[in-house]
Amino acid sequence: MITGANAGIGKETARQLALKQETEKIYLACRNIEKAKAAKKSLEESTGRSIFEILIMDVSDTDSVKKGVRALSEPIDALIMNAGGTGGKNPEKLTKDGVTNITATNLLGHVVLVDELLTANKLKNVALFASSEAARGIKKMGMKRPDLSTSSIEEFQAVFDGTFFGNNFDPMQVYGVIKYGGTLWMSSMARKNPDIRFISMSPGGTRGTQGFDDLPFFKRIMFKYIGMPIFMPLMGLSHSLSKGAKRFVDGISNDALKSGSFYASKEGVLTGPIVEQSTIFPNLKNERYQENAHAAIHRFIH
Ligand SMILES: NC(=O)c1ccc[n+]([C@@H]2O[C@H](COP(=O)([O-])OP(=O)(O)OC[C@H]3O[C@@H](n4cnc5c(N)ncnc54)[C@H](OP(=O)(O)O)[C@@H]3O)[C@@H](O)[C@H]2O)c1
Repeated sequence: MITGANAGIGKETARQLALKQETEKIYLACRNIEKAKAAKKSLEESTGRSIFEILIMDVSDTDSVKKGVRALSEPIDALIMNAGGTGGKNPEKLTKDGVTNITATNLLGHVVLVDELLTANKLKNVALFASSEAARGIKKMGMKRPDLSTSSIEEFQAVFDGTFFGNNFDPMQVYGVIKYGGTLWMSSMARKNPDIRFISMSPGGTRGTQGFDDLPFFKRIMFKYIGMPIFMPLMGLSHSLSKGAKRFVDGISNDALKSGSFYASKEGVLTGPIVEQSTIFPNLKNERYQENAHAAIHRFIH
């Protein structure tokens, strides 16, 4: 199952997985039925396989996630938690669960999805969370390394409800801290569920996505049409959609990638071979922080 499978890296991951003969079925978990149908049709045409099934799920709405899991009639081998980004037009607004939209889309919905799948015994093998190099900071893009003072449950709770950022809610910075929280949650899940592999993986800087569409006009033009396609490849900061998606395919297929770990690009670049990220940012290995992030996000689930 791939969340956010109708566009960008999610859709390309579905395409690459379908080209593997051992893939029997792919659930496209999408929020918009029309976009999902169009993606299904184009995936069937490009792969020559009719193995795609649409599951309507808006990951920013926990009721929709629960409904999607109930509609799933069989267990899945692999879950790719791909839906995400900088949180739409109003990333700082709170959902009915009390988290910001940016937290709901990247994290809370996926936490509920995994919990519901596990309770229903519908997740068998591996779960992959789409993290980002932003979770350990990207100096060249001005994205700071997450800098929490205590990393307590309360502090993570404030990150997830937005109060941590006060009037300084810059989605590009907040995004990295949310992905950091999600990556810590995944490591905690790995310890609690030793029979399932929990991997966090960044696709790297990836072109050809909808990623910058919600940014203000000037930033959008700068990133999407000038930075991403022209300057960033030269600086090792962006690669093709197929390379980005291949990281997710490898993440669920390669058993040598260790449960509880976070893989992304080497320091200073957003492309090339992946490395385990606690070698760059040791906080990622801190079990107390992992448990605190896990507990904090669960405070929003009732
Ligand atoms: N591209 C990069 O350089 C990069 C780098 C590091 C990490 N990532 C991460 O990789 C993942 C995929 O990124 P991308 O660049 O492929 O993004 P994208 O092109 O913006 O595509 C995001 C997909 O997620 C879906 N989605 C968004 N909110 C959703 C919701 N509430 N419920 C269900 N689906 C939802 C979108 O559906 P709609 O069409 O309906 O909006 C779309 O299908 C994200 O988690 C992103 O943070 C990307």
